[in-house]
Amino acid sequence: MMEFSSDFQAQLDTLFTWRRDVRHFRPDPVPEVALGRALAVAAMTPSVGLSQPWRFMRVEDAGRRARVREDFVRCHAETLGRQTEADSGLYARLKLAGLEDAPHHVAVFSVVDPAQGRGLGRQTMPQTALWSSVMAIHGFWLSATAQGFGVGWVSILDPARMAEILEPEPGWVFVAYLCVGYPVEGSETPELERLGWEHRRGERGAWILR
Ligand SMILES: Cc1cc2nc3c(=O)[nH]c(=O)nc-3n(C[C@H](O)[C@H](O)[C@H](O)COP(=O)(O)O)c2cc1C
Repeated sequence: MMEFSSDFQAQLDTLFTWRRDVRHFRPDPVPEVALGRALAVAAMTPSVGLSQPWRFMRVEDAGRRARVREDFVRCHAETLGRQTEADSGLYARLKLAGLEDAPHHVAVFSVVDPAQGRGLGRQTMPQTALWSSVMAIHGFWLSATAQGFGVGWVSILDPARMAEILEPEPGWVFVAYLCVGYPVEGSETPELERLGWEHRRGERGAWILR
């Protein structure tokens, strides 16, 4: 078994502390080798039955990117319309995507019924394939943070529209749209907390006992 030093363990804690959802990006691209390294880390994620159901798609076509942005604007406006009067002012001021400035766009899909893994572990809980893909995104996110670039997860999108725009393979379900690039600034505090939308609750890290 590999042993990790206490210095490494402390640095790993720091990585978790400083990993942020990034919405303000510098325009300069991330080197391909760094993006590839994050993808390789994602590929080491545990997955149900070793099915590795995640599919990371680079969205480079300007037309497709523009259509994704349009869908975000439409979904965002609809969500704004559903906010209470008390929340709507603050909601309208939040920056909930970095689609205009992020140099890289990555859509993540999950294979619903992957042949790989031969169904192991999915018979009673088929959603575990999707969960495996979400975990892969976390690996990508942490590797990005460790390498100095950032990820912003955009979910204010219509999955059916994403499928029309991005034309995934049959049997793939849309999981996430990630903005990727160097952050304008770093912070130990989530942006939603800094702007007063929500507070991170430390007690959610406590055990529940039965
Ligand atoms: C599944 C998922 C979906 C998210 N969707 C959005 C989104 O659409 N827009 C946004 O600004 N942030 C989104 N986020 C980021 C969260 O707002 C962010 O993780 C949270 O505020 C905590 O901040 P931190 O990631 O910097 O710790 C999403 C995060 C997750 C895990």
